[in-house]
Amino acid sequence: MAQPGSGGSSCPFHGWKRTVMARERVRVRGAEQIGPYTLLRVERSRLEPGVPGQFFMLEAPGRLLPRPMSVCLAPPGELAFLIDPIGPGTRALCALQPGDRIDVLGPLGKGFRLDVERPLLVGGGIGVAPFPYLSERLGGPPAVLGFRSGWHAEAAALVPNAEVVLEPTYVTEAMPAGRDVLACGPEQMLEAVRRLTPHAQLAWEAPMACGYGACYGCAVEIDGELKRLCVEGPVLAAA
Ligand code: FES
Repeated sequence: MAQPGSGGSSCPFHGWKRTVMARERVRVRGAEQIGPYTLLRVERSRLEPGVPGQFFMLEAPGRLLPRPMSVCLAPPGELAFLIDPIGPGTRALCALQPGDRIDVLGPLGKGFRLDVERPLLVGGGIGVAPFPYLSERLGGPPAVLGFRSGWHAEAAALVPNAEVVLEPTYVTEAMPAGRDVLACGPEQMLEAVRRLTPHAQLAWEAPMACGYGACYGCAVEIDGELKRLCVEGPVLAAA
């Protein structure tokens, strides 16, 4: 898998860095509550963090299938994932304790392009998960983040320079014009963002079973075309 971004060896033809997918059994370092979400921190081991917007498949204890999670933070020696406990798998991940071990596979998929001049991060709810790492890699650009409640908005503390809007205000009402938008959030929000900014980069969500193109479980129809979000996305150009 070749991705422009950090880590790995250089591509002699394109000057990109290659990030190398790997599977590791890693130790949990901590799980902190942030509003309704959990920030799960695991040791990095030999895993590369990849490009912001790429994801990892995390073993969910007691469940058959792993769960896809984008990297939220990548401090030295560690990877952190922001998780919304909405089902049995994500609840099992949020219940992990320091010292537990899980299998982690990644980085997978295509992340955000970082060659943007005037970045603006636009996110909704748990869609803010990749933004702390993305913000760090882009030098702390402005962000507009939408949440259902003040409790959910506690996650905005992870993203520097963020303006927060709460329902019923939409993020699209607070977006300044003339920016290179990088967005992640619910489908309805992404559709509204791309109507306003046809050149935005949009990170889509879909259930995933394998994470590397083998099962078609993540195929979604976008503009009449079927796309496997785990290999062609999750980040796609809006236009
Ligand atoms: Fe299996 Fe995408 S998750 S093809």
